[in-house]
Amino acid sequence: MEFESPITIALAKGRILKDTLPLLKHAGIELRDDPDTSRKLILDTNIDAVKVVLIRATDVPTYVQWGAADLGVSGKDTLIEHGGDGLYEPLDLQIAKCRLMVAGHPGARLDGQRLRIATKYVKAAKQHFAAKGQQVEIIKLYGSMELAPLVGLSDLIVDLVESGNTLKANGLVPLEFVMDISSRLVVNKASWKMKHETIIALVESLAEVING
Ligand code: PRP
Repeated sequence: MEFESPITIALAKGRILKDTLPLLKHAGIELRDDPDTSRKLILDTNIDAVKVVLIRATDVPTYVQWGAADLGVSGKDTLIEHGGDGLYEPLDLQIAKCRLMVAGHPGARLDGQRLRIATKYVKAAKQHFAAKGQQVEIIKLYGSMELAPLVGLSDLIVDLVESGNTLKANGLVPLEFVMDISSRLVVNKASWKMKHETIIALVESLAEVING
């Protein structure tokens, strides 16, 4: 594939990076630097016009929104919390799949009013309980949500569940489905217009890989 315009791709270290690299490889893009050993934040690829920036998962939509990166890969959970301003979301990459769930102690009450819900996913949790007509108190946390019901900080949590091992290890269970989560390709709206051919070619190439 030809790159007529230089592009910067924002990725988050960890699972998203690991699952995105094979997709990019199919589109002809390979990292020159090893993200596991390199401390660089701007990585070169085999194509001079394509750079990859490595940032925190929650910062990916922000970098793309402000055009500091033309595109990026972000979990649907992160996108919902960000709000999606200034972004197009042209492709579900079908990677880093998991579920957003309400979880708690086995048999915990789900239907009460004024339940305390600890979560990093405030918007998604608010929407979920509002749709059920339930007034709840949301407690914003930044990680280790599983601890909250164990120490009496909250009645329930809303968290991502993949294997379910983290819940199990802490004596908790998934209680109610909120939504399916996967990672999405996000594109800056101005880049989408200004670098249309390059971005469309990349989107099509990635779509081909995903659809086999
Ligand atoms: C997520 C999530 C759970 C765990 C679920 O955390 O918040 O803690 O993974 O996975 P499991 O069902 O396979 O056990 P992550 O490792 O992404 O770190 P975080 O706490 O920074 O979100």
